[in-house]
Amino acid sequence: MAIHIKSPWEIEKMTETGRLHTEIFAEVEPHIRSGTTTLELDQMILRAIQKVGGKAPQIGYRAGGQVPYPSATCMSIDDVVVHGFPSRRPLREGELLKIDFLFTHDGYTTDMARTYAVGKVSSLAQKLLRVTEEAFWLGLELLQPGRRIGDVAAAVQDFVEKQNGLWCIREMVGHGVGRELHEDPQVPNYGDPGKGPRLRPGMTLAFEPMVALYPAKMVILPDGWTATVGKGNLAAHYENTVLITESGPRLLTGMQKPVPVGR
Ligand code: MF3
Ligand code: CO
Repeated sequence: MAIHIKSPWEIEKMTETGRLHTEIFAEVEPHIRSGTTTLELDQMILRAIQKVGGKAPQIGYRAGGQVPYPSATCMSIDDVVVHGFPSRRPLREGELLKIDFLFTHDGYTTDMARTYAVGKVSSLAQKLLRVTEEAFWLGLELLQPGRRIGDVAAAVQDFVEKQNGLWCIREMVGHGVGRELHEDPQVPNYGDPGKGPRLRPGMTLAFEPMVALYPAKMVILPDGWTATVGKGNLAAHYENTVLITESGPRLLTGMQKPVPVGR
């Protein structure tokens, strides 16, 4: 893999991809409630993708020796961090649902994920949501040209672990995105300042803090995809595609800072 610096023309395309991607999230959000199945949400998203002439690149996607990913979206509940399969099991009050999917339009791809509370969730779950979102916004400010990825990673880790007593997922990292689904560089949510590649204008990155309540090793279930931190633990994920410009970060998805939850 390589770091692809995007041209102004490519950035224009990715801006449009990201705008449509964000709209699809907004379209599906009102349907997230107990009783709905994640398969219904997945189908809704797939139809929305097709309606705008886009593609769902996760269908059939395989990395390394993995079995092909079966769906357009990842629907991960509670202790499942990422890569949960959409299913026919209805959502229940109190669950945390993570929706994560890559979206391709006109040859360019963006990546976006959100975590939703289904009905009322515990105060600990609310804290997890709030800290994960805040880790994103705090890290975003540091995605400045000239800085190193390690600076961002270390700040996220310090905020999540030292200041809030939660746990940054080690086994999954953010990544470059755009021409391909996964490009260099890797963008971890833990590490040391001063390390890693330098950020440069024209980089487009999926920046995606993944946080668990308690320290855990992430495990992949026998289905080959579902990634969990173990029963009783909970995980949250907040992801946008970010363009590095001369003057700082620019969101290509999730253009608005939402009102933080749980306060
Ligand atoms: N949005 C995730 C990512 O690439 C989903 C993985 S793609 C999958 O970071 F097809 F493997 F699910
Ligand atoms: Co991603």
